Amino acid sequence: MNQDEMKRAVAIAAVEMILPKLERQSIIGVGTGSTANFFIDALAKHRDEFAGAVASSEATAARLRQHDIEVYDLNSVSQLEFYIDGADEFDNGFNLIKGGGAALTREKIVAAVAKKFICIVDETKKVDVLGRFPLPIEVIPMARSYVGRQLAALEGQPAYREGVVTDNGNIIIDLHDVEILDPKVFERHLNNIVGVVTNGLFANRGADVILMGTPQGVQTLKRD
Ligand code: A5P
Repeated sequence: MNQDEMKRAVAIAAVEMILPKLERQSIIGVGTGSTANFFIDALAKHRDEFAGAVASSEATAARLRQHDIEVYDLNSVSQLEFYIDGADEFDNGFNLIKGGGAALTREKIVAAVAKKFICIVDETKKVDVLGRFPLPIEVIPMARSYVGRQLAALEGQPAYREGVVTDNGNIIIDLHDVEILDPKVFERHLNNIVGVVTNGLFANRGADVILMGTPQGVQTLKRD
């Protein structure tokens, strides 16, 4: 299986996992990225079995609508049973790095509302210590230089992601070469820098279930 085949396999496994629990009025949260796109495509044939979805990005909303899946505003929804999304990296503690596609803030908001976060990844994303993938940080544009200096004083190398504007009108700084030994503490620490909207560490609200694609098939990892 190549990487795309593993992504498709975990996407189908996620649909199979949630379908028995969906009711006609159920609304689910849907993430962003190529793995989430496979999930949307696999979900489409079941669109009459649930009410619709909250999207974590404009791109995901557009893809859901292409499949005639109703897209809801999060403010009109009191409860989401599931949030299904990919990740750029994950560790043994179900901590994640996300935001390679610059959708981290909306992803984090939708994940916060959902009862269960099912993360769909292929095995290439697994690491012992988070930080090999540059950590995305969404920043208010006027704070770009200030936040860059604050980050440089911590550890790692901050790099402005040229030409990227998030769905919220902000910019992304990627923090390279950082070994994240305590993801929960580092997530909170970064969020305390004035001008940071949020960062791509999903540790204080990590995944509940990880469906990991391998060449031999999909492995289901659950928290103890
Ligand atoms: C989007 O901002 C990200 O958080 C994605 O979930 C992450 O980059 C995974 O993307 P792929 O599924 O395309 O690898």
